[in-house]
Amino acid sequence: TPVRLSDYRAPDYAIDTVSLDFSLAPTATQVTAQLAMRPNTPGAPLVLDGDEVKLIAISINEEYIPSSAYEATPQQLTIKAPPREPFTLEIVTEINPKANTKLMGLYLSNGNYCTQCEAEGFRRITYFLDRPDVLAVYTTRIEASKAAAPVLLSNGNRIDGGDIPGTTRHFAVWHDPFPKPSYLFAAVAGDLGLVEDSFTTMSGREVALHIYCEHGKEARCAYAMDALKRSMRWDETAFGREYDLDIFMIVAVSDFNMGAMENKGLNVFNDKYVLADPDIATDADYAGIETVIAHEYFHNWTGDRITCRDWFQLCLKEGLTVFRDQEFSSDERSRGVKRIADVRTLLARQFPEDAGPLAHPVRPEVYSEINNFYTATVYDKGAEVIRMLKAILGEDGFRAGMDLYFERHDGQAVTIEDFLASFADATGKDLSQFKLWYSQAGTPEVTAEGRYDARRQTYSLSLKQSIPPTPGQQTKSPMHIPVRFGLVGPNGADLAFTSATGGGVEDDVIHLTEAAQTIVFEGVSAPPVPSLLRGFSAPVKIATGLSQTDQLFLLRTDADAFNRWRASQQIAIQTLIAETAAVRSGAQSKLDPAFVDALAEVAEDDSLEPAFRAQILQLPGEADIAREIGHDVDPAAIAGARKRLMAMVASRIGKRLAELAERTGNVGDYSPDAASAGRRALANAALALTVGQAAPEAIGRVVARFESADNMTDRLAALSILASNGFEERIAALETFQDRYRDDPLGLDKWLMLEAVVPLETTLDRVKALTTHPAFSLTNPNRIRALIGGFAGSNQTQFNRPDGAGYDFFADFVLDLDKRNPQTAARLLVSFRSWKALEAGRRALAEKALRRIAASDSLSSDTRDIVTRTLA
Ligand code: ARG
Ligand code: ZN
Repeated sequence: TPVRLSDYRAPDYAIDTVSLDFSLAPTATQVTAQLAMRPNTPGAPLVLDGDEVKLIAISINEEYIPSSAYEATPQQLTIKAPPREPFTLEIVTEINPKANTKLMGLYLSNGNYCTQCEAEGFRRITYFLDRPDVLAVYTTRIEASKAAAPVLLSNGNRIDGGDIPGTTRHFAVWHDPFPKPSYLFAAVAGDLGLVEDSFTTMSGREVALHIYCEHGKEARCAYAMDALKRSMRWDETAFGREYDLDIFMIVAVSDFNMGAMENKGLNVFNDKYVLADPDIATDADYAGIETVIAHEYFHNWTGDRITCRDWFQLCLKEGLTVFRDQEFSSDERSRGVKRIADVRTLLARQFPEDAGPLAHPVRPEVYSEINNFYTATVYDKGAEVIRMLKAILGEDGFRAGMDLYFERHDGQAVTIEDFLASFADATGKDLSQFKLWYSQAGTPEVTAEGRYDARRQTYSLSLKQSIPPTPGQQTKSPMHIPVRFGLVGPNGADLAFTSATGGGVEDDVIHLTEAAQTIVFEGVSAPPVPSLLRGFSAPVKIATGLSQTDQLFLLRTDADAFNRWRASQQIAIQTLIAETAAVRSGAQSKLDPAFVDALAEVAEDDSLEPAFRAQILQLPGEADIAREIGHDVDPAAIAGARKRLMAMVASRIGKRLAELAERTGNVGDYSPDAASAGRRALANAALALTVGQAAPEAIGRVVARFESADNMTDRLAALSILASNGFEERIAALETFQDRYRDDPLGLDKWLMLEAVVPLETTLDRVKALTTHPAFSLTNPNRIRALIGGFAGSNQTQFNRPDGAGYDFFADFVLDLDKRNPQTAARLLVSFRSWKALEAGRRALAEKALRRIAASDSLSSDTRDIVTRTLA
């Protein structure tokens, strides 16, 4: 049954304190929960959430209550007539961590106990008011076998512990003084290695920092620890936010549905976002670790101290915290390059979501399964909305609004309305139109048309906006779109203007608020080329109507690095769309070498940052082209067109790029810093563009690089060139790679992923065979995402085989996985989100596979929800 935002009601009961006692055992863990209940609506029945829990005992004010006074199912506990005054409710439940393959609630990962409670996992531990607006102070006692679980952790500060005399067991007691909702609860128990450090906060308090991992992997935690300390410092400087407990802990576990979780004082991480050394992690992995460590740490204020009233408000903490982690990485690395990388992610993940059947607003208004709303729209578009808010209010206005938000709402569970009111009140600005960004789904489309009048020295720019219909939203109102811009003059510098009339120009931002607006710039001395949406100032599609000549001009000269990159992508995409049509109709190649020459020119320009040049050299992928084509998509034709372009690039500038790779690539001893990573990225991007003709000499160079690489970044980049082009040489190299990492699951994930993306007809059988390989595991989400997610998400031609066999295999896999881990199954299924844009033959086959999934009568609510909406 769907839940609606408009149905929100405050809870009938408050819970002031929670005292939990865990007696851990793998198949029968006992949980005793003592809840200090306070009626908000005296006399109302008390309805507590549960999920697969077994009730052992229940008492009120220390007296057992008769079974006629309550009703208990594994899903719910109802106490019909609770006391009208505050009372103590004690509930004893039994749960089975070993049988918990959903990885929600309390489960075992590699023999260690851990929990995941967001969004609705706490109810799998005990019956509770499992909703984010019920905030309580928790005290947690954990008792376990001393040998099996020498480490016992929970939220807050450790206040007691010791052996239990006469037994082989011991215990620890933790107290978290900050009221929190149940989704932020965590407990961990096991035999874990520990890395320790400390941090002195801005007010001089000493905080112990602990990272727990598998024994033997301690050395791989150094980078995560460093990233944590930098995050703590940054939040003090950038937002005035200080850490608040005596200890901050991170635990790395190998079985985890998502990236990581911000439990108060005890973050639990998917180990791939903690463990790194040069042999196992790429530069991208290091950057990912830095981002996720920062993200979870920043949640301490945006999520934990101030949380969400209900799950519709998820972007309140996630969009804001993604924005904060993006800003952190921008300050730590190169801002311009970071922006390009973030926009790439947005375009690749959020734009297709917004354009397909799963489109939903940044703040959804209805859901059937909340786990399916941890989406690119809530996270990444949510972060873009915060970025626009900052663009509109300015640096100081934004900070004033954030300060007021922290001051007003500390310790509360709040809404988007509360959040926006802080900014409106701090700055005096009206944000009512801006608020539409939270409720209107779909990517706005902006068109621009400019005209220069040489006699009057005026330039007029007409902008129009429209927002396409999305599920449940047919018509929309114009939004407030901040368009950062420059008028680029003939010499490449921005032209000055004396005035701008006709609408909303403030400094370098046009505030587009109407369906159509014309701005007239006076005193413009020469015909400009407009550079619009600089820094991607709003998450919109823009049709600038610029000629290829003008776009090449921007690629070479724009003062905004982001728009130089955008120009290069735009030209490449337009070229590839035309070429795809040519391939489909059997026509000769229409490729124009002017763009390829410009690419080489930028790549060789040593005055530009290497990491930026690497971004320019990363041509749009098959999925990018499919997204831009948008309908009647033929993945085979797209791949053919891309191959033709790659061949032309190699023949025209391959030699120059090979030289560039040679002179940039030898960086010296490995260091993960951004500058060295940028040089490696440039070398590897250049190398990837040398093989388009499959010349033995070019392939040989890649093989040599694979063999001589002394770090994972270069090794994987070379291997990826061999695999993603389907070269024969990949076979031996993949074998060598697999052997090298045979004892290292995170290394094997990279191998599984590359096996899955080989664009050859034999790949489907290879992937099927690998599902029974000892390195694969049907219970580990990272293995599944690498192999099956790699195949369905990154192998455009083979997942979308014209015979439908890719879809059939995938559907079978999802149906099987759904029985064990619904959340991961539902996430995988999102690979079908653009099926309606396929050409008719594949579309019919994809629909058949989806209907087969939908026809199963034992689907989880997670998978049922995705398949239903995908087909709708
Ligand atoms: N709050 C976590 C993060 O973004 C994500 C947890 C999502 N978990 C889930 N089961 N839906 O940092
Ligand atoms: Zn988050």
